Amino acid sequence: MNYKIAVIDGDGIGPEVCAAAIESLRAVGKKYKHDFLFEHVLMGGRAIDEYGVPLPKETVNVCKKSQSVLLGAVGGPKWDALPGHLRPEAGLLGIRKALGLYANIRPASLLNALKETCPLRTDIRDGGIDIIVVRELTGGIYFGRRNTLQKAINENTYAYDTEKYSVKEIRRIAEKAYAVAEKRKKKIISVDKANVLDSSRLWRKTVHEMNKDFPDIEVTDMLVDNAAMQLVKNPSQFDVILTSNMFGDILSDEAAMITGSIGILASASLGKTGLGLYEPIHGSAPDIAGQNIANPIAAILSAAMMLRMSFDLDREAAALEKAVNCVLEKNMRTADIKEKDSKVLGCKEMGEAIADAVLFA
Ligand code: IPM
Ligand code: MG
Repeated sequence: MNYKIAVIDGDGIGPEVCAAAIESLRAVGKKYKHDFLFEHVLMGGRAIDEYGVPLPKETVNVCKKSQSVLLGAVGGPKWDALPGHLRPEAGLLGIRKALGLYANIRPASLLNALKETCPLRTDIRDGGIDIIVVRELTGGIYFGRRNTLQKAINENTYAYDTEKYSVKEIRRIAEKAYAVAEKRKKKIISVDKANVLDSSRLWRKTVHEMNKDFPDIEVTDMLVDNAAMQLVKNPSQFDVILTSNMFGDILSDEAAMITGSIGILASASLGKTGLGLYEPIHGSAPDIAGQNIANPIAAILSAAMMLRMSFDLDREAAALEKAVNCVLEKNMRTADIKEKDSKVLGCKEMGEAIADAVLFA
């Protein structure tokens, strides 16, 4: 079979980790006889440099015509001084919106091979960490009205952003969370700030009303400040976390870090169709870009999510995940997750080791 994949390499370490993910996909293609066709398009800082905008129309068109999108990361200090709507991040928000990708799925689990890199106390870590954050991705404060009043800044200047959610938006993301929970421990913790925010009170009410249709799933509410604390105090209580765009952004970084490194966590952004966007949850890490020391595992595991969720290639996805595990079990590591006696590999070499494990292990 042929699969068309749009690749947005992006900025910083984006191109390096994408190259490794592509190498791993090629190995999967070779082993299981699939043709993955890659078309590279620009978004973020590199698009700003080339076209003056973070999200060229052509990029959106190519993505829409593809079966999935692989994304590295965007942003960097070079573009920090630009106004909000022209920053690289505006490209990322724009592509999520343009493709209707309202559901962001971020699994965070502590791999056996990486137990020692977990920053939590052993007795806490040993309870196990296996969480999926289901984050709303095209609404809330990220897309609400915002403005800065009076451009020349003095003490009377003010700025605002707005958090706004409709029942429709809450329902469709909650449906994804229910669907994810069905296949797991059937436990959702819905995170909000309902003791303060109206939008959170509507969120809570809507999620609970839906529970009537899913009687076998247990839904508990948790306030976001408490959730941030519980994630480090007792992470094993979480199975599926359902939350808004901004709370999900924050909690998914926290969930990632308690599993050892933000360099290994993958994500899928999905909408109504099979077209998904797959990206590591880490950023562009400009400080280590171009040095061949980035960890490509998050990008490679994102490619595995792509195989499973956009192409229905479960066996191939499992083979790629197994290859990652196999390399880690052999104590081959990038610098961010190295332990004593590890064989430290560069980004490219880690990609090659994983591709080899797909083919030969
Ligand atoms: C993420 C990132 C983005 C977000 C940024 C780069 C706009 O932090 O995907 O988590 O906040 O969604
Ligand atoms: Mg983030």
